Amino acid sequence: MAIISRIDDTFQLTITMTAQSTIPFKITPSTAFQQLAEREAILENPGFGKHFTDHMVAIDWTLDDGWHGAHVMPYGPLLLDPAASVLHYAQEIFEGLKAYRHPDGSIWTFRPQANAERMQRSAKRLALPELPTDIFVESIRQIVSIDADWVPTGGETSLYLRPFMIANESFLGVRSAQKAAYYVIASPAGAYFAKGVAPVSIWVSTEYTRAASGGTGAAKCGGNYAASLLPQQEAYANGCPQVLFLDPLEGKYLEELGGMNVFLVMKDGTLVTPELTGSILEGVTRASIIQLARDRGHKVEERRVTLDEWKNGMVSGEVAEAFACGTAAVVTPIAALKGRNFMVGDETAPAGKLTMSLRQELTDIQHGRAPDPHGWMVRLV
Ligand code: COI
Repeated sequence: MAIISRIDDTFQLTITMTAQSTIPFKITPSTAFQQLAEREAILENPGFGKHFTDHMVAIDWTLDDGWHGAHVMPYGPLLLDPAASVLHYAQEIFEGLKAYRHPDGSIWTFRPQANAERMQRSAKRLALPELPTDIFVESIRQIVSIDADWVPTGGETSLYLRPFMIANESFLGVRSAQKAAYYVIASPAGAYFAKGVAPVSIWVSTEYTRAASGGTGAAKCGGNYAASLLPQQEAYANGCPQVLFLDPLEGKYLEELGGMNVFLVMKDGTLVTPELTGSILEGVTRASIIQLARDRGHKVEERRVTLDEWKNGMVSGEVAEAFACGTAAVVTPIAALKGRNFMVGDETAPAGKLTMSLRQELTDIQHGRAPDPHGWMVRLV
């Protein structure tokens, strides 16, 4: 709010520097704000990833000058040289986090330092420059401040924030780029899945893997998601909104879903999730669920889990519940598993009790309806 009134007062570019940031952010306000009625209609039913706010953040990097030129600017297309390395060699990484409006109107985000640190690990793996945590968090604060009116108020809606980084050096030789850019865009969000938080069926891909051993599976890079799209299409064709990948070596251990981590709840209340082997994304929601479950006294095992253990456990009752989790999906119950020649579970079964209660606990913290015992929330506005 403070930033917006400075812009309104001057009607010109304003330089702002906050205590947290090591670089100044130039602000160029949009002159083409979406109409109030249009915005309100979008916020009423945002869906996921379909609508974008009025501004974006851009920060440049070069080998010689490091990070510089931080700019909050009107949302719009990027001008990219056709030789930009990202277009040829997919040198790209991204993050996903959300801003939540609390009952008193203030706006908060969840564990942004964890996203900043994961982006640094992704950058290292993709040979991109690491963006310092303070600049990452400040970039989030900047976009949410200027587009605060885009943070929805209803139910479990939020403003999904998508920081990403591309190599934009115009050079066709295959080596890490000496020029890159970091951006943040924002999109009001409701439920990720079309059916809301209803239980979903998962397609088990036995033909394709998501990531190779020693590959980029632990990094949040576009290439991992590109590789998941064909099996994801196969999932849709079989009536499933997500695909489950198995390990690339033996094809028998659970890895993760196309865009989220996976948990099983055993009948004695133990939670089991695939251990981080280097080809699985280290989800911030995954880590938070592990913590919340342990706080309640549940045993949580991070270990290798076979597909057979899941399938047989669903049949015998040993596996009582299963769920997917991620920033976009939050916690989504899984009702059934389908593969080329099998189907276990019941697509119409109700969501698991522990699944839904962990979901509630997490979203209550995120939306400011419950205390935040681990200090995960960071106030933005
Ligand atoms: C997220 O949960 O933020 C993701 O990145 C998953 C997907 C939307 C790509």
